[in-house]
Amino acid sequence: MTQRQFLKTIGAGAALAVVVLGGLLIGSRRGEAFQNQGNDDESRIQQGFAIAPVPLNVIGKNRALVGLGSYIQVDCNGCHTSAPADKPFLEWVPGGIPYWGQRPTKVNPAFYLGGGQAFVTPFGTFISRNLTPDKTGLPEGGRPFSEFVRIMRTGVDLDHLHPNLPPPFDGSLLQIMPWPTFQNMTDHDLRAVYEYLSAIPCIAGPAAPSPLHNDCP
Ligand code: HEC
Repeated sequence: MTQRQFLKTIGAGAALAVVVLGGLLIGSRRGEAFQNQGNDDESRIQQGFAIAPVPLNVIGKNRALVGLGSYIQVDCNGCHTSAPADKPFLEWVPGGIPYWGQRPTKVNPAFYLGGGQAFVTPFGTFISRNLTPDKTGLPEGGRPFSEFVRIMRTGVDLDHLHPNLPPPFDGSLLQIMPWPTFQNMTDHDLRAVYEYLSAIPCIAGPAAPSPLHNDCP
């Protein structure tokens, strides 16, 4: 018997009691199922550590910011994976490729945020960058936080890798990177993403002088 049929069968007073009781039951059941899924910072920090696809080096770092950054950054790897061009599905570990219907989803640590995805447009080809820390311990191959914030807020391409874009494009700006969205993040959240990026493993990438190269520790 569905809840509606049930309500029809009994009187209005009883129905109200059932609704109230039902609400209580649902409330308490939900309380059990989602007890670790709150919206406060500590829940997000824990969730951040739980979902990180790579080991995180928190030594000398703010642990809370690392966890929070892992939770916040969500899909940088969708564009910044270093999965090979002819096998982009290797962004995921075989067996955990969500778009092939495989469960559970498993991000491939071997290519995590190493960069190199090519975005081909009629105006030029844009390559995502290596976001992993190098031997300095700073993300994105030694990028200080002040520069990271500038990039995220203004889209400036400090490496100036595509200066020859036809007008009205501004070749001094990143063209694919969604900085017009990221620029609205709070300083605290950007700091958390930066702290997270400093805690992930280094990916060396192609040999120098490729802009994707990192000198790993
Ligand atoms: C839609 C794809 C996409 C997503 C999502 C994305 N990026 Fe990017 N990002 C790029 C591309 C492509 C470039 C470089 C080329 C360009 O945009 O012109 C880039 C460049 C950057 C740069 C500049 C690197 C340098 O050396 O100057 C930073 C920093 C960066 N991304 C960080 C991030 C972070 C952090 C996230 C997640 C919060 C993220 N990106 C998500 C595509 C993306």
